[in-house]
Amino acid sequence: MENDLSLVPHQLSKLGYISAPIDKSVDLPSAIQQLKKEKNAVLLTHYYQEPEIQELADYLGDSLYLAQQAAQVEADIIVFAGVHFMAETAKIINPSKKVLLPDLKAGCSLADSCPPLDFAAFKAQHPEAVVVTYINCSAEIKALSDIVCTSSNAVKVIESIPKDKAIIFAPDKNLGRYLINKTGRDMLLWDGACIVHEAFSFEKIVALAKAHPKAKFIAHPESESPVLEIAHYIGSTAGLLRFVQEDASMSYIVATEAGILHEMQKRCPQKTFIPAPVEDDTCACSECAFMKLNTLEKLYNCMVYELPEIQLDQALMDRARQPIERMLNLGKS
Ligand code: 13P
Ligand code: SF4
Repeated sequence: MENDLSLVPHQLSKLGYISAPIDKSVDLPSAIQQLKKEKNAVLLTHYYQEPEIQELADYLGDSLYLAQQAAQVEADIIVFAGVHFMAETAKIINPSKKVLLPDLKAGCSLADSCPPLDFAAFKAQHPEAVVVTYINCSAEIKALSDIVCTSSNAVKVIESIPKDKAIIFAPDKNLGRYLINKTGRDMLLWDGACIVHEAFSFEKIVALAKAHPKAKFIAHPESESPVLEIAHYIGSTAGLLRFVQEDASMSYIVATEAGILHEMQKRCPQKTFIPAPVEDDTCACSECAFMKLNTLEKLYNCMVYELPEIQLDQALMDRARQPIERMLNLGKS
C-alpha cells in the first residue's frame, strides 16, 4: 500500500488516529500479524481491549505485567493496545523504541483527575511525605513521584516505605482507601477516581448476588468502598483472573471492566461470569470508553503508517523513569 503521509498531521491533531481507507479485501487480523513480522514489532495488549485485539497480542496482561514486558522488549516497535498512560510508560522505560498507540485520545479518567500543577501544589504542602502514585497517571505526575505502583503490587510498594514516613497516594482515592485498610498506613489521598469502577451499583450487586447465591463476588480495588466491603476477593485484573482459575466456585459476579471476561471465559470455559451491574441501565458503563477507542482498523493503520507515535520531552522522561524503575526493581526483590 502507498502510504499517503500528507493527510497525517491534520488527522492526528483532529482525530487522534489515522483514518486512511482500508481495502475491504484485507483480512485485518492476518494483516496485523504480518505487519508485526515485517516491522519487527510486538503488540502489548491490556485485558480491557476488545476480544479480537486481545487475540492478536504477543503479551496480554495487567498494567504491571505490560510495564515489565515493555521494559524488556528488544524488537524495534512496541504497539500498545491500551491507553495513553500505558504507552507513555513503555516509552519512558524503553526510550530507544518506537512506541505506537492506535488512538491518541485513548486516555483515562483517573489520569485526567490529577492535573500536574494542582498536584505539585498539593505535594508542596506536604514536603515530608513520600509520594506514591498509581501507574494510571501522566508522565508529569510520575515525574513528581518517589515510586509508582499498580493494583498488583501497591501493598508491597506501601510496605516498602519506612513506617515513620508520611505518604501521599494519588490519583485513585478508592484504591487509596483500600490500601489504608489493608496496610494500616495512614495516607494523604488525592481525590481522583475511575469512571468505570465508580459506575457499579452497590444495591444492584447485592440484588444480583441474592439471585445467584452460589456466585462469588469479585472486584477490582478501583471500585468504591461499599462494593469492596462485600467482595469475596479483591485484586488487579491479573489477580482476578488468577483467583477464578484457582477457586472452586463455578460462577462469579465480576466488578471490573467487562473486557476481562473474555480471558476468564477462555481459561475457565466451564464457569459462568456475570458482569457486575451499573447504576445507569442505559449505558455500557462497565466498558471503558477510552480503552474501547482502539479498534482493529485503527490498530492496522497505526502499524502501516507507524503513527500515532508517543513522543515525550527527554527531560520529562528522565524525571519520570526513576519512580517506575523503583517499582520494577521492587518486583525483583
Ligand atoms: P490493572 O490491569 O493493573 O488491574 O489495571 C486496571 C485498569 O484500570 C487499567 O486501566
Ligand atoms: Fe482509566 Fe478506568 Fe479506563 Fe482503566 S478503566 S483506563 S482506570 S478510565
